[in-house]
Formats: sequence, structure tokens, C-alpha cells
Amino acid sequence: MGFIYSQLFVKPTYPTTSCAGQTIIVTGSNVGLGKEAARHLARLGASKLILAVRNTKAGEAAKHDIESTTRCSPEVIEVWPLDLSSYASVKAFADRASKLPRLDVLLENAGIAAGKWQVFEGHESTLTVNVISTFYLALLLLPKLKSSAKQFGIMPRLTIVSSEVHGHAKFAEWKEPKIFDTLDDESKFDVWERYPLSKLLEVLVFRQIAPSLEGSGMTLNILNPGLCHSELARDAGWTLAIMKFFLARNTEVGSRTLVAGAVAGPEAQGKYMHDGKVDESELSPFVKSEDGRLASEKVWKELSVILESIQPGITGNL
Ligand SMILES: NC(=O)c1ccc[n+]([C@@H]2O[C@H](COP(=O)([O-])OP(=O)(O)OC[C@H]3O[C@@H](n4cnc5c(N)ncnc54)[C@H](OP(=O)(O)O)[C@@H]3O)[C@@H](O)[C@H]2O)c1
Repeated sequence: MGFIYSQLFVKPTYPTTSCAGQTIIVTGSNVGLGKEAARHLARLGASKLILAVRNTKAGEAAKHDIESTTRCSPEVIEVWPLDLSSYASVKAFADRASKLPRLDVLLENAGIAAGKWQVFEGHESTLTVNVISTFYLALLLLPKLKSSAKQFGIMPRLTIVSSEVHGHAKFAEWKEPKIFDTLDDESKFDVWERYPLSKLLEVLVFRQIAPSLEGSGMTLNILNPGLCHSELARDAGWTLAIMKFFLARNTEVGSRTLVAGAVAGPEAQGKYMHDGKVDESELSPFVKSEDGRLASEKVWKELSVILESIQPGITGNL
């Protein structure tokens, strides 16, 4: 009932916080929620807005569209390639971003709801894109966010776009000796479970790493945009299409929740945001349970090993 109430009766606040002087990265910003969030951030005066996209032609089209509606100067928006299905692309993007004079916001929005089994970088595609590369990029850019905090006396934000569907995942695999190995077994792949599961893994990892950023000068939050119209799950079939028809927020309204995360203050550090506000009561019962805490520790332990195998020493950035 809470879901239906939010979808039908709650309209996240129209963003008005100035972003003047800020450098902001939005991943997956050529379409959907990322593009509409980028449009808000351009309107709010960001000095540099980087559209991090896997399809740069689509990124350029988004840049021109945003420029035409916000009348921001052509120097503000830049389109940079980032493909989360490739660790080399993530690393190249982060190396480039680390050379920026400052970084105020990394809004990690890009994600997929894969409709079939596929493997990227040795892991099932949803795990690679939504979880492994998302946290790889986060860890790669933590030093830049932290140094920007010190150098400019600001409080940079790292925001991860998750979903309330994290509560739909059964996640029986958390009790297996090797969680990622089990999830990477094609014979056990459940296409309907995988997207919500990837969003649950994001929340679990987030809860493990957020406390270590206390006192670092930057903040990390995670958010749920609600059900929104976008390109996501375009092949998911009639049930979702009907739900979206009756309940989905339009993309612009949904994107306000992303902007709320991107401009949030210290109150959102380590917190889950829902309807554009900090609201930990919206975390799933599993996440808040003792089993959820144990699963969170276990998932992070395994993910740390994976991240260390991609780049030795990377978890030291926390
Ligand atoms: N829409 C909803 O109801 C809803 C609800 C809860 C949470 N979310 C979350 O919101 C975020 C944005 O989703 P959306 O609904 O706006 O979906 P969308 O319209 O499909 O946008 C997803 C974005 O991610 C990009 N992307 C996909 N794979 C990528 C990769 N390998 N490397 C780099 N970028 C990649 C897409 O690029 P291409 O255009 O090239 O594919 C696109 O720009 C996702 O994290 C999603 O899980 C959405």
C-alpha cells in the first residue's frame, strides 16, 4: 500500500538547490532518469556537467537537448565514454575524471534489467554493470571526492541509484559458501529475480562501506526513485507495462529523487532515500534484519576480493 500511495500521491519536491560552481558526473545520462536529472542539474547552474554514457552519439544528442531546454552555455556539458560492462572503460573514465580540478557529485545512475543470460567480464551482466562496475567506479573516484572536500572546503556527494524492488529479491544464495559463484551459475539463473537482486546487492554493499566514509568530508547516499517511465525493462512484458501505465511517475518527476540525492547534505550520509527524502523505514525487512547484516558483511567480503582482483589495493581507497 505504501508503494501505491507514493506512486499516486507523493510528488518529490521540484529541485531548487543551486549547483553553481559544481562539477557533476551523471552516469547513464543519455536517456531516462539520468538524462532528466542532468537537465535539472544544468538548470541549477552546474559549472561542469559530465554525461557519462556508453553511446556517445546518444550522449551528444542528450547534451544538445539539455542545452536547448536550459539555455546553459555549450561549455558546461561534456560527453565522456563510460561502459560499465568493461572494467578497462571504467578505469579509463576514472583516470580522466581524477584529473578534473574538482568533483562535487558522482551520481551513479546507469543500470540494466537484463532480459537474458549474458556474461560481461566473467560475471553475469547485471552483476557486472549494476554492482561490480558501479562500486569499482565509486572506489576509483573516492580519492578525488575526498581531496575535493579538503581542497575546496565542500562536502562532495556520491549517490547510488538503487530501487525499492531490492525488497522483492528472495536472495536465498546469501547462505551459499560463495555467493557470486552461485549467482554466476547459468543453470541457477532466474531472470525475474536478477534485477531486484542486483538492487539488493547495491543496498547491502552500500551499508557496509558507508560507515567508513564518516569524517572523510564527503557523503555517500543511496536512493529509490520509485516506479518511473524510462527505457528500463522495455522488454519486461505486459504486467510491468500495465503497472507503469497506472502508477509510474513521469521521468522528470522521478529524476527529482536523483537530484535530491545529488544535493543532499550530511543528514543523508549512509542513508537510504525514498521520495526524495532520507527514509530508512523504507528499507526492506531483510536489509534491517540480523540476517541482512550478516549477508551484507558476506557480500562485501566477496565483492572486495573481486574488486581487488580487478585492481589490487583499490579497497584501500575507502
Ligand atoms: N525506471 C524505474 O522505474 C526505476 C525504478 C527504480 C530504480 N531505477 C534505477 O534507475 C536507474 C536509471 O534507470 P532508468 O529507469 O532511467 O533506465 P534507462 O532509461 O534504461 O536508463 C539507463 C541508463 O543506463 C545506461 N547503461 C546501461 N548499461 C550501461 C553500461 N554498460 N554502461 C554505461 N551505461 C549503461 C543506459 O545507456 P543506454 O541508453 O546506452 O542503454 C541508460 O543511459 C537504474 O539504476 C535503475 O535501476 C529505475
